[in-house]
Amino acid sequence: MKLEHLCWTEDLSIGDAEIDRQHKELFALLEKTSETAGGAGADGHIDDALRALCDYVVKHFASEEALMDPAVYPEYDRHVQEHIEGSMRALDFLDASNEGRNVRAEEFLEFLVEWVRHHIRETDQTLGRYLARKRAAGA
Ligand SMILES: [Fe+2]
Repeated sequence: MKLEHLCWTEDLSIGDAEIDRQHKELFALLEKTSETAGGAGADGHIDDALRALCDYVVKHFASEEALMDPAVYPEYDRHVQEHIEGSMRALDFLDASNEGRNVRAEEFLEFLVEWVRHHIRETDQTLGRYLARKRAAGA
């Protein structure tokens, strides 16, 4: 995997300090997990690292969802649906790994990094604009 894909970059900012902080933390975890997956004798640690990563993703999605008011944010359903799909893919991978099926951590990380980058660029940027309007309105 290209290393630059594992790093948060300014173009991923959605203009909300707390969400940007969480996205940076998510990329730091992705990078750490990738290092663990690539390390010698990683087998014993990779499951823990992947579980910690998935836990963080699910917690982060909940933080974003708490900022959206379904009554006034037209993108709410679509955004939450994307979170559900992303979480399901991540949890399916964890289940397969726990059941001892042959899964490749690198493959999963590549999927998750691309998914997260695309989701931030499209869906979270829209959320960022909504939050900026909310702040401007003094809400
Ligand atoms: Fe999101």
